[in-house]
Amino acid sequence: MNQRSTPLSLVVLISGNGSNLQAIIDAIAHGELPAHIRAVISNRRDAYGLQRAQQAGIPAVTVEHQQYRGDRQGFDQALMRHIDHYQPDLVVLAGFMRILTPDFVRHYRHRLLNIHPSLLPAYTGLNTHQQALDAGATAHGASVHYVTEELDGGPVISQARVAIHTNDTATTLAQRVQHQEHSLYPQTLALIAKGRITIDNHDHIFIDGNRLEQPLDCTRELP
Ligand code: GRF
Repeated sequence: MNQRSTPLSLVVLISGNGSNLQAIIDAIAHGELPAHIRAVISNRRDAYGLQRAQQAGIPAVTVEHQQYRGDRQGFDQALMRHIDHYQPDLVVLAGFMRILTPDFVRHYRHRLLNIHPSLLPAYTGLNTHQQALDAGATAHGASVHYVTEELDGGPVISQARVAIHTNDTATTLAQRVQHQEHSLYPQTLALIAKGRITIDNHDHIFIDGNRLEQPLDCTRELP
């Protein structure tokens, strides 16, 4: 096993509230995640997560996609320049609501993670909670995965599950899924930071040197 001795350096990309960012900040502060957030970058200047970053003393940067109207490549190039300035080990997408270009994804191959609110491969894209309800599903959840060029299609590291109740709405379901996300993302990052999770050139994920055949179940016990 390849134990890391230095904290994992992260750049976190957000577009909005940043509750997952907050969970990562808190896990680092509580000594549960041996990592250091070098910067938080938002594509929207009004993202509340930028305030969370500032309160935690983390550089908060805005790269507005609106300045690159119609020029996806230009926006991603600017984003890359900002990210690479901080030389992170990992780029952490936490509610970053932009589809990234293939060049961007390739540039950060195996260093780009996302959290998606469904048990992938189910319900890719948007409105996943409503998609689960419409499908009559009984279980739902969230997944942390490496990002590849296929939307929400990269190798899944870990998942957390919630049961769907008969009276659930997209809002109540989203709340329970987010509660799970807030332990799922820091826990998964901690496994990577400790060198326990690795990925090879064939996109196979390993935990403690053993091939991961299915996503790790990191479901948080309800109180
Ligand atoms: C989360 O539900 C995450 O799964 C999705 O976007 C949401 C971000 O929420 N990718 P927050 O900004 O972290 O509160």
